[in-house]
Amino acid sequence: DKGLAVFTSGGDSQGMNAAVRACVRMAIYVGCKAYFIREGYQGMVDGGDCIQEATWASVSSIIHRGGTIIGSARCQDFRERAGRLKAANNLVQRGITNLVVIGGDGSLTGANLFRQEWSSLLDELEKNNTITSEQKNKYNVLHIVGLVGSIDNDFCGTDMTIGTDTALHRIIEAIDAIASTAYSHQRTFIMEVMGRHCGYLPVVAGVISEADYVFLPEYPPPQDWPDRLTLKLDQERSAGQRLNIVIVAEGACDREGNPISAEDVRKVIDARLKHDARITVLGHVQRGGNPSAFDRVLACRMGAEATLALMEATPDSVPVVISLDGNQTVRVPLMECVERTQAVAKAMKEHRWADAVKLRGRS
Ligand code: F6P
Repeated sequence: DKGLAVFTSGGDSQGMNAAVRACVRMAIYVGCKAYFIREGYQGMVDGGDCIQEATWASVSSIIHRGGTIIGSARCQDFRERAGRLKAANNLVQRGITNLVVIGGDGSLTGANLFRQEWSSLLDELEKNNTITSEQKNKYNVLHIVGLVGSIDNDFCGTDMTIGTDTALHRIIEAIDAIASTAYSHQRTFIMEVMGRHCGYLPVVAGVISEADYVFLPEYPPPQDWPDRLTLKLDQERSAGQRLNIVIVAEGACDREGNPISAEDVRKVIDARLKHDARITVLGHVQRGGNPSAFDRVLACRMGAEATLALMEATPDSVPVVISLDGNQTVRVPLMECVERTQAVAKAMKEHRWADAVKLRGRS
């Protein structure tokens, strides 16, 4: 009779629905009562129709859909204790003491704080006569498990996050399409690619699209980058290439931390090479559309494993995030991964790029 709820939080990514489906179906399979929490933490605070029982059928025909059918939101209320108190009451009233949070490091950190605070929240609810002492004793431990849904692949501790592979497909389809028209007109295209402060998408897209130059957040170019860029593009044209592709990560900057934008790059190419240079900002197209086969499989495996991890959790167990290690789904201590991810963000902010790359490790 365990209650398990799943919610998506922060920016969406393709494959989140497949993960929701797998959590719910595995929960039902092992005899749990499964719930959706709509609109992320906001739905947990608001309760009511935002927390609904999920059935086997309610997650049919969503495995292929992008976005998240249960919605996602940033929530100010959950940052306040009063909001978390409401959220705790909404869960206790439904007998939910197992949560699968699908989001980025901020969402996972929020869930961990909630778990740590849980018994003091229940004490306060009992004191206010909002819950009974039987409820308090029955539901006195909250278990959480994290899944990382993000196109950026910026979370430490997993080789891939849910959505990255699909975003890469979107980017490559776009570059392939651009390359054919660039070829006809001997143009240079500058593609702006997402990924926040992580260069995974731009660097992999650069390698597999034969881009001529890539600007990355973690490897800022030297100050003479305009000379290097134009030399490279010129060499390629002299060797007979009819087009150039330059990829600029949205978080690209120089070694002093000044942003390098697609427009900065276009101006250099225009002024020095007189190429017909155009910019394409891929934007949220990268985060939309149906998940790839890889993301569906990844999300299914991670979602099922998340439910199993919750079922096996004991009051003393450390909360985990479900990660991909090579080809294996594994359970990794959640806060270790979050702390490393936040240390990377700090290093990037302080322009300690080499440290950031080292800290991030394999993923
Ligand atoms: O984290 C995913 C991401 O798409 C980043 O790549 C991008 O910087 C950001 O979210 C955009 O956020 P928003 O959708 O809030 O504009």
